[in-house]
Amino acid sequence: MLRPASAADVDAIARIWFEGWCDGHLGHVPDELVPHRGFDSFERRAPLRIADATVAEIDGQVAGFVMVVGDEVEQVYVDRAHRGGGVAAVVLAEGERQVRAGGHDQPWLAVVAGNARARRFYERQGWADTGPIDDYAIIGESGESVTVPCRRYVKPPRTAD
Ligand SMILES: CC(C)(COP(=O)(O)OP(=O)(O)OC[C@H]1O[C@@H](n2cnc3c(N)ncnc32)[C@H](O)[C@@H]1OP(=O)(O)O)[C@@H](O)C(=O)NCCC(=O)NCCS
Repeated sequence: MLRPASAADVDAIARIWFEGWCDGHLGHVPDELVPHRGFDSFERRAPLRIADATVAEIDGQVAGFVMVVGDEVEQVYVDRAHRGGGVAAVVLAEGERQVRAGGHDQPWLAVVAGNARARRFYERQGWADTGPIDDYAIIGESGESVTVPCRRYVKPPRTAD
């Protein structure tokens, strides 16, 4: 079941986001970013992102979530216990739907270049790698950032059969 996230989901989102960030990013992002991505960083940011988030629920538990901002599908995260089980496709399709419902023709996302599992997943879902893009990961209160090499993926519109 998909539903908009609420304040009650903050703890689950922070945990899934932190664990998923470690699984997809450690070893693939600059070392200087890692000390800024402890669990506390996700605990702090999760409540600020509830309005952007849609969660997938299984048996009353949050199994994954997607965050959408404008034409960007910003975060696609599935709980470790539910990976490989189809939740990811459901939340990604919902992110795509929200982008298009917001009046944008072409959803896009950035994925860390070394995040092989996520890239294979996006490609299987019909997303196309359009090349390198730098992400600027915020690390401080005053907006300092670390440059993270990523790939930019887009979801082309469906073509008529
Ligand atoms: C990315 C994510 C949402 C994908 O969901 P998922 O349920 O794991 O996706 P699937 O298992 O359906 O597909 C993953 C693909 O990678 C493959 N895969 C599995 N483990 C892998 C690994 N360790 N390395 C590379 N590929 C792997 C799977 O076999 C599958 O490919 P295939 O269909 O060609 O066989 C999920 O893994 C996740 O939450 N990861 C951590 C957070 C993250 O990286 N999010 C993306 C940020 S942009």
